[in-house]
Amino acid sequence: MSPHHALLQKLESLQRAGVQTLPKRAAFELPAVEEVYVAPAEPAHEYQPPVRPIVPVAEPAVTSPVRSNFSPAATTVAALPGSSANSLIQVPFPADLPDDLAARENLLTDLRTKVAACRLCNELACTRKQTVFGVGTARPRVVFFGEAPGADEDRMGEPFVGAAGQLLTKIIKACTWERSDVYIMNVLKCRPPGNRNPDPAETANCRPFFERQLEILRPEYIVCVGAVPAQALLETTLSVGKLRGKFYPYRGAKVVVTYHPSYLLRNPDAKRFVWEDMQMLLREMGIELPGKN
Ligand code: URA
Repeated sequence: MSPHHALLQKLESLQRAGVQTLPKRAAFELPAVEEVYVAPAEPAHEYQPPVRPIVPVAEPAVTSPVRSNFSPAATTVAALPGSSANSLIQVPFPADLPDDLAARENLLTDLRTKVAACRLCNELACTRKQTVFGVGTARPRVVFFGEAPGADEDRMGEPFVGAAGQLLTKIIKACTWERSDVYIMNVLKCRPPGNRNPDPAETANCRPFFERQLEILRPEYIVCVGAVPAQALLETTLSVGKLRGKFYPYRGAKVVVTYHPSYLLRNPDAKRFVWEDMQMLLREMGIELPGKN
């Protein structure tokens, strides 16, 4: 049977099965289109922050400020009710922080120095080659928020430079950006030995650092790649599969949750979901992809 005939047969069988639309191929090598939408198995994560139900709210709809002439979709932001007393989630980023680039860079440099001197997590402080703070513009519209440095990042001192980092860079480029147009950072600033998941005490120790880092950056959007950053930022135990597809509020920014590039390396079929999540983000930001929309 010719490939053309086989494809036609496949499409007809999908139509009979009720499939109306097929996802588009993503610029960072999506799997073949004839594979239908199958929910991937969730990656296992040991990190268990406090239980916090997340209830999407119907209104009010919150839209982002737009810096282009393209109208974004009005998007509902899902609420996080019942924040713990010391949670910052509902507290807007302070308006009185210096806004110019140089001042932000100075604040980040001060914070980077404090991070480099931190020895709160004894095991991590003894095993790290160096701390890994963050990289990118100090005035980003979008922050990509990962889990923790791996071996390559520990050696280079920069987040997302290994195999997963190269895939993240492809995702960023597929969104029409360079790494220098966004900011890239992790929950943990030190490499957990053997690339194990951060434990809750380590996340708690690093929390003041990543919260302050985000406060200095004050992005409009935060893309949490993987369950660890999503659960740490949103203070929930929900999985990526449950969280993705909506925007969540964090201090006035909108949070998108998607799969970690390491997960995509093991499960390439899940790339289509990440591309859907990035398209949701781009639509909301009022950014048109060349040749799309
Ligand atoms: N995985 C992460 O979550 N962060 C990195 O910096 C590298 C790999």
